[in-house]
Amino acid sequence: MKNAVTIVEMGLRDGLQNEKTVLDAETRVEIARRLTNAGVKRLEVGAFVSPKWVPQMAGTAEIVAQSFALVKQGVIPKKTEFSVLVPNEKGMLDAIASGVKEVAIFAACSESFSLKNINCSIDESFKRFEPVMALAKKHKIKVRGYLSTCFGCPFEGKVSEAKVIKLAQRMYKLGVYEISIGDTIGVANAGQVELMFKKLKKVVPVKKLAGHFHDTRGQALANILAAYKVGVKIFDTSLGGLGGCPYAPGATGNVATEDVVYMFHGMGIKTGLDLSKLVDLNPMVAEKIQHPLPSKVGKVGVLKPLGKVSAQN
Ligand code: HMG
Ligand code: MG
Repeated sequence: MKNAVTIVEMGLRDGLQNEKTVLDAETRVEIARRLTNAGVKRLEVGAFVSPKWVPQMAGTAEIVAQSFALVKQGVIPKKTEFSVLVPNEKGMLDAIASGVKEVAIFAACSESFSLKNINCSIDESFKRFEPVMALAKKHKIKVRGYLSTCFGCPFEGKVSEAKVIKLAQRMYKLGVYEISIGDTIGVANAGQVELMFKKLKKVVPVKKLAGHFHDTRGQALANILAAYKVGVKIFDTSLGGLGGCPYAPGATGNVATEDVVYMFHGMGIKTGLDLSKLVDLNPMVAEKIQHPLPSKVGKVGVLKPLGKVSAQN
């Protein structure tokens, strides 16, 4: 569709991985069900990472199994694409055992963040992806790639554009079907984003590029618009604006799904998502994680035709 963007929902993975309250599988599956009922077609439901490193993601196999059971029962649409994060071969083997048909690998653009997040250098992380890609091919599993700290690192500061471009090329050569460009700690500005994507699309087709913006400094919507204007049509967002990486100090949530949907719908650009249903899901998630969600639209709701605003959380 010409006037449309694709939303990749991060709430159940990036959204929950940094939360103090760990949600049980039943609650996470109910969130998945309601997200798909709101029109979400691509969602990351968890991560096969070490539970010692990220205890919040324990139970991912159960989430995948229960989500597929709901698909079988006709509760979740058949075409829903579930994905999980995998850092290495062990994670990939767990992903295969779970029956999931898509995984995401992730590499950093700064050595210090790579070490803190996955305990190895960038080079080593790419070596770990080789068996992951071989297994993916054998089992016909789609692989998405993330590049983190593309605009700045919590330990090293600025990250050079040239390094990001080189790593994007390297990741693309591995055979990932899409690369998500991450502003892990929300430091980018719209000018930088425009320049970065203009350069990136010379080495990776723009259709295969996604934007993953954390909203730490309130720049995420502007950054999304900047990326959209240079042709990017896929954006990672998180219900309620939850998110952050436990190994990226200072990083707050991903841009809120509701805020992004509100912006695009207002511009006449389709997302396929039902904004009211997303807003309605906010209070339940806030109650479960025991704090209000950062999303702006999630708080005040959708403007009704008569100018009434729906109830607050
Ligand atoms: P390590 O401790 O160096 O691993 O962790 P190891 O290979 O030395 O193994 C130690 C133990 O971990 C062994 O078990 C392994 O079997 C086990 P033991 O013999 O001691 O019983 N192990 C695993 N267990 C479960 N799942 C696995 C796995 N691999 C080894 N996959 C490791 C290395 C990569 C596992 C660890 O550092 C890790 O799990 N890191 C994940 C950190 C993470 O999830 N960060 C957040 C996601 S990234 C992000 O948020 C950014 C993103 O959103 C984009 C953006 O915002 O820019 C994607
Ligand atoms: Mg992230």
